Amino acid sequence: MTSPDPSKSAAAGKPIYERPTIIRHQMGMMNKFARAQAIEPLTQIDGVSVDALVEAYGSPLFVFSEREIVLRYRELHDFLALRYPKVRLAWSYKTNYLDAVCRVFQREGAHAEVVSEMEYDKALRLGFRADEIHFNGPDKSAAVLERALPAGTMIHIDHFDELALVESIARRLGIRPRVAIRINLAVAGAPPWSRFGFNLESGQARDAVRRILAGGVLELGGLHAHIGTFITDPAAYRELARKLAGFANELRSDHGIILDFIDLGGGFASHNTLKATYLPGEQSTPSLARYAEAIAEGIAELRYQPGEMPTLVLETGRALIDDAGYLVATTLANKRLPDGRRAVVLDVGVNVLFTAFWYNHDVIPAQPFHGMPEPTVLYGPLCMNIDVVRDALVFPPLEVGDRLVFKNVGAYNVTQWMQFITYRPAVAMIGRDGRHARIRRREDLDALLRYEELPEWL
Ligand SMILES: Cc1ncc(COP(=O)(O)O)c(C=O)c1O
Repeated sequence: MTSPDPSKSAAAGKPIYERPTIIRHQMGMMNKFARAQAIEPLTQIDGVSVDALVEAYGSPLFVFSEREIVLRYRELHDFLALRYPKVRLAWSYKTNYLDAVCRVFQREGAHAEVVSEMEYDKALRLGFRADEIHFNGPDKSAAVLERALPAGTMIHIDHFDELALVESIARRLGIRPRVAIRINLAVAGAPPWSRFGFNLESGQARDAVRRILAGGVLELGGLHAHIGTFITDPAAYRELARKLAGFANELRSDHGIILDFIDLGGGFASHNTLKATYLPGEQSTPSLARYAEAIAEGIAELRYQPGEMPTLVLETGRALIDDAGYLVATTLANKRLPDGRRAVVLDVGVNVLFTAFWYNHDVIPAQPFHGMPEPTVLYGPLCMNIDVVRDALVFPPLEVGDRLVFKNVGAYNVTQWMQFITYRPAVAMIGRDGRHARIRRREDLDALLRYEELPEWL
């Protein structure tokens, strides 16, 4: 029999048919039913109904909450500012470079952190001043450095070849820019990342400073380090801040260098659940206050005079935007797998929800549901075996057309998504006053064809 429309049946006062389900209990496992049955449908995002959003912008649909972005930004900024006098957050463009998202951070007073010429130009076009941009990354062309150096952009030098390039440009342009160097170092609680910047322990970072001083055309204005991503141990930041403060003290006493800023990069965890972890991110992710506290304790080792304290810069990405992003999906089909599990095909695949490879994303039905939750696999619409957006969860039954909402998807998806066999979906934002608007159109065939060319002999 076909399943009845629950709302119609309920309205008619008829009990809703629920088909019987037998589910094997696994010895030694927690009974997951309690948690699954406790799910409340997520029918609204910031007071706007999911149905209304899909009606306006289609499905699938990314939705960003301006309220949540502002909340997280202010929380982190204010915690840090309580403990350290000069604080700056530089929005990590690669995490999410949609103009509307960057504008929210810009309005809050953030500077920008970019890692490529494309991001640099996007930030300038949005109205960040050149001297409000921190420029990271191992690939900065001579052409972009020729624009960025005289304009006062903070160039974080990644390697000796780049140092030589920056020097030659400064000489040619007759300028004496203040630059930063990127440092990599060993910190307990963070996996070793040694491919970016100059190594501290081996003495390479000291060599880079000596090289800058000997060249006589650059001034060292900043230290930068980014120790990794989704780091769940705040103590790693205490050690990072302590080590950079120690290095800054050494540069001051040995060379009289007074830094403008110390930049501790990004890397705080969001409220997602990494695939290998047992506890959900909601329970295991440290608060922003704990990260801020650890940093304040480490940076306190800086021996600078009160008037000359360097600005403390953070390039926090995912922890500020992940929780503000939702992805609305629609059920295309139900299937039964040979092993008895239920499978659901959605209109959202791993090309769009790229972070499904790393996380067990929290996903919630967007309408009231009935029936027994059972082990379920959520597949995407791609004709690819790897297209699995959740490989195992206990989930209530879904009808074709039913909607689901994936939570905490704001970081990296709308920059790393792939255009593959279909179009990338639209993105909307809900304003703090409940207004909503589209911030990126769904792609179409014209968008694709714009970049293709047919050779004249074909
Ligand atoms: C230099 C730099 N800064 C900041 C970030 C943002 O990191 P996260 O999103 O983990 O906070 C990254 C991300 O890899 C990065 O490479």
